[in-house]
Amino acid sequence: MLDADQKIVVSGMRPTGLLHLGNYHGALENWVRLQADQTIARRFFFVADWHSLTTDYDQTSEVKNFGFQMFIDWLAFGLDPAQSTIFIQSRVPEHAELHLLLSMITPVAWLERVPTYKDLQKELSGKDLSTYGFLGYPLLQTADVALYSGSHVPVGQDQVAHIELSREIVRKFNHHFKHEVLAEPQALLTKFPKIPGTDGRKMSKSYNNSIYLSDTTETVRKKILPMKTDPARMRRTDAGDPEKCPVFDYHKIYSSPDTINTVAEGCRSAGMGCIDCKKALLKSMDERLDPFRQRRVEVAAKPDDVRAVIEQGNTDARKVAVLNMERVREVIKI
Ligand code: TRP
Ligand code: SF4
Repeated sequence: MLDADQKIVVSGMRPTGLLHLGNYHGALENWVRLQADQTIARRFFFVADWHSLTTDYDQTSEVKNFGFQMFIDWLAFGLDPAQSTIFIQSRVPEHAELHLLLSMITPVAWLERVPTYKDLQKELSGKDLSTYGFLGYPLLQTADVALYSGSHVPVGQDQVAHIELSREIVRKFNHHFKHEVLAEPQALLTKFPKIPGTDGRKMSKSYNNSIYLSDTTETVRKKILPMKTDPARMRRTDAGDPEKCPVFDYHKIYSSPDTINTVAEGCRSAGMGCIDCKKALLKSMDERLDPFRQRRVEVAAKPDDVRAVIEQGNTDARKVAVLNMERVREVIKI
């Protein structure tokens, strides 16, 4: 059993599409960084495939494949199975058992007042989100974390309300059954750089503006070169403002301070054209991403090895989950 004062990190990603650079810089890169944090006792990262079903139960055909591709991205971009237990949620059925047991003590009103509940229903009004499963989304997430006694949950700002709800549910559970059997998690918020899609809007697969971790160098070139820039730069001789240009957001992530300065100055003085600016960006991106892309090709070439890593992760996660569920059943006396 793990000590109560040890940090246990748990997080998941929904396999609703291929991972793009927004997912990398917003989450995966941070997960990889957490592997170097010696104050963390254990790390659990999983493919939240059941969570995909809460919004997309009508399009399940790709979930398995996206989950598999996600694993390849994770391994290629630096998650190390020796340091992180990486697995698939639905292969550890204890997630569902804990979700069910927690549902017994969770007031429906607590779930209804989670901001993402009504927001997403409005945003995705074309979808049927009037289901029990969708209402229970943050409860399943609570089970995901509590199952491993998770103390820290690396998530984006949009998920903070879910973690807050998790804390309340855990408290109510412990209080009701008079044992500190479940751990109260806290959000681990990380700053991450702004990385817009190639059209300047939020990077999202539904906008068709994403650069995927699985894109080749050539594909990325074809996506970057036609990017819209600062509209003030109609002609090559028009000066621009790099802060109004998504290409510059990318420079800030991938280029050296020297290149960033040269580009910003060249943009403001019209000394540099947008094509040259984008070519400089591609050079910086390739330097940073090519080693990962190469590794991705190698990893993807050995699907059986990937499957073995997944199996091992599922087994390791399940060991912890089974032990914790025994304690949970014990306090419920069931
Ligand atoms: N809800 C998270 C998201 O959309 C994914 C997720 C599912 C998760 N279960 C989790 C994140 C448990 C952290 C912990 O990003
Ligand atoms: Fe954008 Fe670079 Fe063109 Fe300036 S020079 S508008 S930063 S692409």
